[in-house]
Amino acid sequence: GIQPVILCGGGGTRLWPRSRRAKPKPFLPLLGERTLFQQALDRVGERGTFAPPIVVAGEAHVPLVREQGGGELSIIAEPTGRNTAPAIALAAHRAPEGSVLLVCPSDHHIADEAAFRTAAEAAARLAQDGHLVSFGIEAVSPHTGYGYLLRGEELPGGYALEAFVEKPDLETAQKFLADGRYSWNGGIFAFGRERFLEDLATHRPEMARLCEEAIAQGEADGAVFRPAEAPFARIEGDSVDYAVMENTRKAAMVPVSMGWSDIGNWDALREARGGESTGEHELRDCTNVMVDSDGPRVCVVGMEDVIVVVDGDDILVTNARGAQAVGKLDGASRQ
Ligand code: GDD
Ligand code: MG
Repeated sequence: GIQPVILCGGGGTRLWPRSRRAKPKPFLPLLGERTLFQQALDRVGERGTFAPPIVVAGEAHVPLVREQGGGELSIIAEPTGRNTAPAIALAAHRAPEGSVLLVCPSDHHIADEAAFRTAAEAAARLAQDGHLVSFGIEAVSPHTGYGYLLRGEELPGGYALEAFVEKPDLETAQKFLADGRYSWNGGIFAFGRERFLEDLATHRPEMARLCEEAIAQGEADGAVFRPAEAPFARIEGDSVDYAVMENTRKAAMVPVSMGWSDIGNWDALREARGGESTGEHELRDCTNVMVDSDGPRVCVVGMEDVIVVVDGDDILVTNARGAQAVGKLDGASRQ
């Protein structure tokens, strides 16, 4: 069957003050009533197709995972974040032999769930045939925070990849966009369990060995599995994109149009919300102004391109140009 692996790490500091270290982006209801983590679970909730998910999260967030995720999850609690390649390796070791892993980030919004499921099934078939499969999203800007997938030979339900390029510089991204044969990497992957572990062992032998050791010496405590701290701490962190996808000879992709958004900052969130304000507010003679307040009434008059976020004692005022730098504020790192 398809074994979902939900990744919950990362800070999401660009969505401060709503997102904070104690309660980062995945655990917030940023779009709709369910949190992004819950929406990631909902997408793989159909038990005829998907096994109960394995969630990989930092130890500090295990209570949030339990509270929001309910009883059927298996949880792997990381003592420290070592990025996505080790997180996926831990999950692979804990997954049933012969399963196909569907690796899902918990910080995305996907509007069209049916399209997601169709793509997941196509990706799982390619993974069963030994490919390491990405979800390809139509590239619409030269975004430098994404991976880029170069389509090659056609395969059933997708394409072999001629290249996987993680986070290119702007000039390269612009070239890719103009070329027309590149898609964005959606950050969702389907891997045959054994194929993934073999590829990791080939390209990052030390990381693979330490992950295996951390699992072998780890301890289960009910639904929570704790990898051994000492070997895990020695891992040199790296993302699955750099560690495996850029290096494997068996990369493939499934193109999918599913209303995908990475919601990387407040400007992207404003767009995903269709510009709708939330909380007490009054806007007059404003264009492209969004308010998100958890209490105080926010009144804005005669402004253009402004985002105001109120969370407890913290107020953020930014716009399209500033949104990407919010995580660099001293306030955001103080939490
Ligand atoms: N458990 C765990 N542990 N999860 C982690 C860790 C970790 O150490 N680090 C990151 N994650 C989770 C994040 O919470 C997120 O859900 C997912 O893994 C991806 O990590 P990001 O740090 O958000 O990656 P990115 O956005 O820079 O890049 C990835 O996603 C892009 C699409 O959004 C890459 O796959 C890009 O190629 C891709 O385009
Ligand atoms: Mg991300």
